[in-house]
Amino acid sequence: MSHTYFVTGSNRGLGLEFVRQLSRRGDVVMGSVRDVAQVDAGAEHAASLVPLELTDQKSIDSLPERVGDRSIDVLINNAGVSSDSSTLARCDAAELHRVFSINSIAPVLVTRALLPNLRKGSRKLVVTVSSQLGSITNNSGGSSYGYRASKAAVNMLTVSMHHELKGEGFTCVVVHPGWVQTDMGGPNAPLKPDESVGHLIRLIDRLTAADSGRFFNYDGTTLPW
Ligand SMILES: NC(=O)c1ccc[n+]([C@@H]2O[C@H](COP(=O)([O-])OP(=O)(O)OC[C@H]3O[C@@H](n4cnc5c(N)ncnc54)[C@H](OP(=O)(O)O)[C@@H]3O)[C@@H](O)[C@H]2O)c1
Repeated sequence: MSHTYFVTGSNRGLGLEFVRQLSRRGDVVMGSVRDVAQVDAGAEHAASLVPLELTDQKSIDSLPERVGDRSIDVLINNAGVSSDSSTLARCDAAELHRVFSINSIAPVLVTRALLPNLRKGSRKLVVTVSSQLGSITNNSGGSSYGYRASKAAVNMLTVSMHHELKGEGFTCVVVHPGWVQTDMGGPNAPLKPDESVGHLIRLIDRLTAADSGRFFNYDGTTLPW
């Protein structure tokens, strides 16, 4: 049975790989990108493209106008950015705001904007791509101040969404995709996008409401907060 997915940041990296793999198996995919005109709408990018700038609340709030009243079964909050804030000296306020805006706040606002569509869906599933760098327990090395904190924040926000929405049958989880060869992960990462996303789709396929509020590694194991 095919499902309808909404994937943010679908023009490159893991987002594009989600679009490729889901479309290939017959799912319907809507993908958000910042600039639709710049996307090579080739055969492999089968998603219907929706413009969305995650640092612009107006762009997020007007998303329902562009999506319409169609049902969405699974939302994948994938888009994210890394940060230059590697040391205290580099923790510039504007930079921290930027990273939190995209990595932490936007997934909540996008979920809120698409709630009517998700309520009509058969899975009511919200998957937010976090990072194991957001695990406080696993922070043995420091650095990456903004990135780590923004992912820890989105983990907390996801657990709060889980508690608010579980009564309606929603499943809200955060996932770590592994260290992956994308623009963000760089060429030395051990995983290729197709491997990471293949694992994540198998995980997403088997998620149920009993999994809501959890933090998963791409291989399906649980990560510590
Ligand atoms: N790769 C890894 O090793 C790794 C590890 C752990 C977690 N993650 C997480 O996995 C997710 C995907 O990462 P990736 O490796 O695929 O990164 P990527 O290749 O750098 O792609 C990032 C995506 O996010 C979009 N994006 C960035 N800023 C945006 C904004 N302001 N508004 C709308 N879209 C925006 C980008 O669009 P543009 O092209 O327009 O910039 C792009 O589509 C992220 O949440 C990341 O934190 C990745």
